[in-house]
Amino acid sequence: MSVESEVLEMIRPTSDEVRSITDTAEHLKKLVLRYISDHGLNIQVRFVGSFAKGTFLSKPDLDFFILFPENTPRKELEDTGLRIGEDLLHGIRKYSEHPYTRGVYEGIDVDLVPSYNLVTTDKLQTAVDRTPFHTNYILTHMTDEQKDQTRLLKKFMKGIGTYGAEPNTRGFSGYLCELLIVHYGSFIKVLEGATEWKEGTTLSIDKKGPPMVGPLVVYDPVDQRRNVASAVHIDTLALFMVAARAYLASPSKKFFFPVDRKPLSKEELQEKANIDGSRIITVVFKRPDTIEDNLYSQLWKTQNALAKKLNDFDYNVLRCVHNMNNKTLEIAFELERDILSKTYKHIGPPVWVKSADSFLSKWKKNEFGDPFVEDGCWNVIAERMYFTAQEMLTDEAAISGIGREIDPNTMKIRDHESSLKDTDPLLLTELMDPKQSWEI
Ligand code: UTP
Ligand code: MN
Repeated sequence: MSVESEVLEMIRPTSDEVRSITDTAEHLKKLVLRYISDHGLNIQVRFVGSFAKGTFLSKPDLDFFILFPENTPRKELEDTGLRIGEDLLHGIRKYSEHPYTRGVYEGIDVDLVPSYNLVTTDKLQTAVDRTPFHTNYILTHMTDEQKDQTRLLKKFMKGIGTYGAEPNTRGFSGYLCELLIVHYGSFIKVLEGATEWKEGTTLSIDKKGPPMVGPLVVYDPVDQRRNVASAVHIDTLALFMVAARAYLASPSKKFFFPVDRKPLSKEELQEKANIDGSRIITVVFKRPDTIEDNLYSQLWKTQNALAKKLNDFDYNVLRCVHNMNNKTLEIAFELERDILSKTYKHIGPPVWVKSADSFLSKWKKNEFGDPFVEDGCWNVIAERMYFTAQEMLTDEAAISGIGREIDPNTMKIRDHESSLKDTDPLLLTELMDPKQSWEI
């Protein structure tokens, strides 16, 4: 039996599971319909997402849309939509792009999303108006066999960590996986197709839309102006391509079911640092109370901003990784060095320009020696502003361009030793000994 058929046996929801989720969906629909008629509302409802499309894995969420007439004022749609969510699901309001409610019903995660009831995608009003069209498209363009192929692709993507368009994963949404299956035909054909991709590869399922740039461009068949792969980061694209090649060369269940990594011990991490001749530093912020998705993009932004500072000040980042838990956001860096010499060579103006005079008078009584000529310029040995990476970040982090809601006043820095002592060993293992998930 092929690895794919074995995996499919394991991940395809059993008929009991399908019956149970279908029952829950029907109960939920009844509940909402009764609410709508009790309140005399003019609203239609429908399921969208992987449940409606039959491409869900075990323990799916339910994506339930409540559709308002096109001429409903935006505010009314939002207020009524959120009120229904609150009254029936007692859920929490989510406001990433579009307000909706996330709750739990009969043990199942439910997204209750208000949206407009549109006939075409010509005049979209909200970010989620396309979703019912996606559902219709997949229902009319995908065979039952391909639904299972989608499940394989989604599970593969989950296993290697490329599934989900959220800011942390920066990867492939469920709908994108579905379109790739429709485009290429099967799981294996998607992988084979991916071995031919490069940055900027453009796929059109039906017809081509206007030119677009991005690591991967997949025109949305229900709206050619939209790139379904717009969330895919170049590194996620690359990871998927690497995994596709590795799987085709040697298929294994490990791609779908990665083994948990065993963290290295403190001693092993220190040994790694000795081999690299490197130093670790961890920057910790208090976690602000805000939407998780927004926080992840701010965490990436912060990581990039701090890495740039560290490079600008010559501490040179070898690698960096981040982590978020209930209380803190943590970024760990492996640096070429965390301490620099007390002095550096400050290069001044050419000797023949007028400002050379003021340079000379400024540095006349320099405690590290007189200015000297090199390559036609005045040079002087000067004291560094910061000797250690820790001092530098303490002063510079707040002006480096960290995430908007991340408070630099909550920043704590762990140097090499305290990082080994207090930073999550799994995060440090990922930092000091990166491995592909299927090779553990
Ligand atoms: P979901 O994220 O729940 O995806 O979004 P899904 O297809 O149901 O997949 P799983 O099995 O739960 O992981 C529901 C719908 O919202 C739209 C798609 O139409 C999707 O089917 N959507 C979501 C997008 O168009 N883009 C996104 O980035 C996310
Ligand atoms: Mn879903």
